Amino acid sequence: MTGHAKMGNPVAILGGKGMLGSDLVAACEQRGLACVVYDLPEFDITDEAALAEVVASAGAVVNCAAYTNVDRAESERDLARRINADAVGTLARLCRQQDTYLLHISTDFVFDGQQESPYRETDDPRPINVYGQTKLDGERLLQQANPAACVVRVQWTYGHGGANFITKIIAAGQTRPSLTVIDDQIGAQTSTREVAEALLVLLEKQPAGVFHFAADGFASRFEVAQTIFAHLGRDIEILPCQSSAFETPAQRPLNSRFDCSKIQALLPAPILPWQEPLKQFLSERDNDHV
Ligand SMILES: NC(=O)c1ccc[n+]([C@@H]2O[C@H](COP(=O)([O-])OP(=O)(O)OC[C@H]3O[C@@H](n4cnc5c(N)ncnc54)[C@H](OP(=O)(O)O)[C@@H]3O)[C@@H](O)[C@H]2O)c1
Repeated sequence: MTGHAKMGNPVAILGGKGMLGSDLVAACEQRGLACVVYDLPEFDITDEAALAEVVASAGAVVNCAAYTNVDRAESERDLARRINADAVGTLARLCRQQDTYLLHISTDFVFDGQQESPYRETDDPRPINVYGQTKLDGERLLQQANPAACVVRVQWTYGHGGANFITKIIAAGQTRPSLTVIDDQIGAQTSTREVAEALLVLLEKQPAGVFHFAADGFASRFEVAQTIFAHLGRDIEILPCQSSAFETPAQRPLNSRFDCSKIQALLPAPILPWQEPLKQFLSERDNDHV
């Protein structure tokens, strides 16, 4: 890490027990980069005194902590707002005061998904659910408080450390001979390991501003399900359907595609096509279940 006052101190990973956070911790450990995990129940990002202590002792902060239950956020708006927006504004202010680099994770759900092309960082956000609105509010509070901070928006992530579309579809396939899967939502299934590697590069280069990160290429959820069961060699009938067939409390964007050329320019190698890390993930999972 370069440029900031306390660069000898460990990186604080907020939400370090979560799906992305746990892979970031693993990536830091692999590189010999000292990090400290902060997460519930010992640490609550909405507690300003606790946040101030973390920032004071950190060389840099990565905020992977978030209220991530998209459907429940519709009925827990205040809690989601405190975690995803207010606490992020406070964190950004504390980091500016301490000259501590801040990397914050956000989401494609800041967009409405109506655009036909991949979303760029400069496209206008227009959230269509409470979760997306709170994440956008968090980005805005962060940018007002700390223009040197960095926001990395990710989309359709999966990893070994949490429930996600991949693990849920595999679980569903274990109990049913036939699955109906949405074919009008498109995006790039993105491994949290790949995200973690990109975050390490950003920690090193410490850019400011917003970046989009996703695996290369895209597919509908239906196509992803087909790829998964073909790889696993499972003979399951998969039928396509529209999002409207599944009633959920929160609406989801139909287009989650990102244009990642801005972050790609900082990375040492081309971002991998979504199929490669997914096949690796499935193989590791298979080995775990032998
Ligand atoms: N998963 C996706 O598809 C996706 C897509 C786009 C963006 N993102 C973003 O990626 C980031 C990482 O999410 P993830 O997928 O790793 O989700 P996750 O597994 O739910 O991780 C979030 C972590 O934050 C913790 N947390 C929640 N409230 C907290 C609080 N008040 N104080 C401290 N920690 C708290 C959670 O603890 P508990 O588990 O105990 O609640 C969890 O360990 C988030 O910013 C999310 O918005 C995710």
